[in-house]
Amino acid sequence: DGKEVHGERGESVLKVALQHGIRIPHLCYHEAVKPYGACRLCLVEVTRESHGRKRTQLTTSCNYPVLEGIDVVTTSEKILKNRRMVLELLMARVPGSPQLEALGAEYGAKTGRFKPSDKECILCGLCVSVCRDVVGVDALGFMGRGAFKDVRPPFGEPSKECIGCAACVMACPVDCIKMEESPTRRRIVRWGRDLPMKVCESCGYPFAPTFQLMHFAKLIGTKLGDYALCQDCRK
Ligand code: FES
Repeated sequence: DGKEVHGERGESVLKVALQHGIRIPHLCYHEAVKPYGACRLCLVEVTRESHGRKRTQLTTSCNYPVLEGIDVVTTSEKILKNRRMVLELLMARVPGSPQLEALGAEYGAKTGRFKPSDKECILCGLCVSVCRDVVGVDALGFMGRGAFKDVRPPFGEPSKECIGCAACVMACPVDCIKMEESPTRRRIVRWGRDLPMKVCESCGYPFAPTFQLMHFAKLIGTKLGDYALCQDCRK
């Protein structure tokens, strides 16, 4: 966009743009995980010189690496047209999503061009990557193909691996993974996982699913008994 910016080797165009206050809309990018390039909302135009000739391509910026001397345009008629179409497809896939409607309004995307479906998930894969690569549990995966592609625990049954940490709930950009909590249990509704909560032995506050504490204890090599108190009572 005419500004000169610097990034580190291995960083993506999206990451560097965000670091410099340049807004590029994105749904499936999270800096904690490897970009998957699924939502295609972060489109930009990149011009680079190759064999003495300049080539411009429309590309996703979350998985395009910063390179010496490239020119990146984040807003052009071509980008906006494509971004609108991406949003219209997503809005047809998940009708009524407040997050998608807000983006749609911002970019002038309209409903009606594509047949609406009754899905809630945009298949961005963030929940899958966060569970596998950040939490280290791997309780979710893609299932099916084409119109039947979906994210589910293995075999579509409540995953025995899921520790109820709710990282997937936090990561979902369209808020389709709901969580319900009672004083004794946490339920990750979308995965049908229902787990008991550990209650703080001092103040009685239910602070984490017992499965999550067992996972951390195993990971760090501590005893489950070390997690008897909530964070506040530990201070
Ligand atoms: Fe780049 Fe989704 S944020 S494709």
